[in-house]
Amino acid sequence: MRGRDLVSILDLTPDDLERLLEVALGMKRDGPGRLLEGQTLALLFEKPSLRTRVSFEQAMRRLGGSALYLSGPEVQMGEREPARDVARVIARMTQAIAARTFAHETVLEIARYADVPVINALTEEEHPCQALADLLTLRERLGALGGIRLAYVGEGNNVARSLAYASVLAGIDFVCASPEGYGLPAEVLERCRHLPGGGRVEQTVDPQAAVAGASAVYTDVWASMGFEHELSDRIEHFRPYQLGEALLEHAPGGALVMHDLPAHRGEEISDGAIESDRSVVFDQAENRMHAQQAALALLLAEG
Ligand code: CP
Ligand code: NVA
Repeated sequence: MRGRDLVSILDLTPDDLERLLEVALGMKRDGPGRLLEGQTLALLFEKPSLRTRVSFEQAMRRLGGSALYLSGPEVQMGEREPARDVARVIARMTQAIAARTFAHETVLEIARYADVPVINALTEEEHPCQALADLLTLRERLGALGGIRLAYVGEGNNVARSLAYASVLAGIDFVCASPEGYGLPAEVLERCRHLPGGGRVEQTVDPQAAVAGASAVYTDVWASMGFEHELSDRIEHFRPYQLGEALLEHAPGGALVMHDLPAHRGEEISDGAIESDRSVVFDQAENRMHAQQAALALLLAEG
């Protein structure tokens, strides 16, 4: 994988994904090793972040390298100078770029112009690093991923899309339950049908049917960053999709509760669900660091 970009989960083959999870598990168990001594990762973030920033900064530090945080107001990408110039300048002085942007096209443009690996740290279309941590969490808790059922309740957004793609590659049966008009786009469902890996993706409006037989139930915010103004109009449509006690009655007793965080208790998830014994949300958060250590090592250090 050395020298490649990770803009989408679709940049990975099933073998890449499997290898990345194996490396992440090994690094979590034994420590990552100082594989990136002297290397710097630029973090180019147009939106706020807790987990993504901390996990990338710590991952680089633990690998012997360093991270350089560049905020939206500082760089003013697209205003002070175009993304393609920002990409080429940063690439002259660092060894990789992790970019969190509004438009997915911006990360694609950065990847086109930067001749160092570019990692998508969240766009409106995808959140691949989150999906890697989520699969690592499922792998730790459930063992082999092939054939498990993963239910996602909520908007077919960036998190859902990356998770759907990653699920197919890992052989997971992924079911997304969303209000009418808020599901995964048709082209995403179509793309999933043609991916290798053996998993399947299904879209439904029925949250109770979705969670039946699921090994894990996942949710994310009802209005993503940049769409907060739509929340008040959405709430009534999304209320039946809350990951709470009522919905969990339809899931197996041991089904894991998952959320990428930050969570809005009382909206997409109940306080009881997130605080329950079956909740793995903080494992998911920690696993961001382990999964990204593996990704950075494979993209930057692999021989
Ligand atoms: N899950 C996640 O990406 O969190 P942040 O937005 O805080 O980075
Ligand atoms: N879907 C959310 C994820 C936050 C980590 C957003 O884009 O705001």
